[in-house]
Amino acid sequence: MVGLETKNIWVIANWKSNKTVQEALEWISVVGPKLERRENIRVVVCPTFNCLSEVKKAITVGNFPLIVGSQDLSPFEKGAYTGEDPASILKQFIEVAIVGHSERRKNFGETDELVVQKVKQAIDNQIIPLVCVQGKETPVPEGVKLVAYEPVFAIGTGNPDTPENASSVAEFLNQKYGEDTEILYGGSVNSNNVESFISKDNINGVLVGGASLDPEKFIKIIEVCTTL
Ligand code: 13P
Repeated sequence: MVGLETKNIWVIANWKSNKTVQEALEWISVVGPKLERRENIRVVVCPTFNCLSEVKKAITVGNFPLIVGSQDLSPFEKGAYTGEDPASILKQFIEVAIVGHSERRKNFGETDELVVQKVKQAIDNQIIPLVCVQGKETPVPEGVKLVAYEPVFAIGTGNPDTPENASSVAEFLNQKYGEDTEILYGGSVNSNNVESFISKDNINGVLVGGASLDPEKFIKIIEVCTTL
């Protein structure tokens, strides 16, 4: 078994469409000082676009070991694309970008082709694309090394997948896309169930929605990951 102290563990907060700038900064001021600087634990916060600048500034000023990510990015370069946030501009704030979340596929017509374009934009701008797959059949574009398995039935329902099934999907993805692809699990993760997922050898962390909004709940999830 790979020791938990040796594998990378990503703990990623996806705030979705929540938090004003003030609420975002309050969250950072609570979570930031609680984080230990640990080589193998990567804590990422993904606010709305409008909060990225202030969140990044607060993390830099506080010198917190917290990585900033976005929840999406434009499939195009900068230019005449009204309403879009291109990777070349986002890169001043973020290191990671979530791409292909099921909520974007369902509500905003995000297709596998758009996911490919967004991944290219991210990689061309030195941003790590975190591609969400809804099951084994979702394609992962070339060059992607960070994937989140998020079955739709588990998102926001309080009904997570089993760690065994998540691990078997991770095994499939590792066989298909390479052992060096890190696989996360997302869907109704909380401080009570996070251990069952990250204790699987081939699961490298969690993508957390609802339970990431409350700083105390999110800190508890991180604490489980750091004390294992
Ligand atoms: P919940 O943790 O609220 O189920 O959301 C999961 C998710 O979609 C994270 O991207």
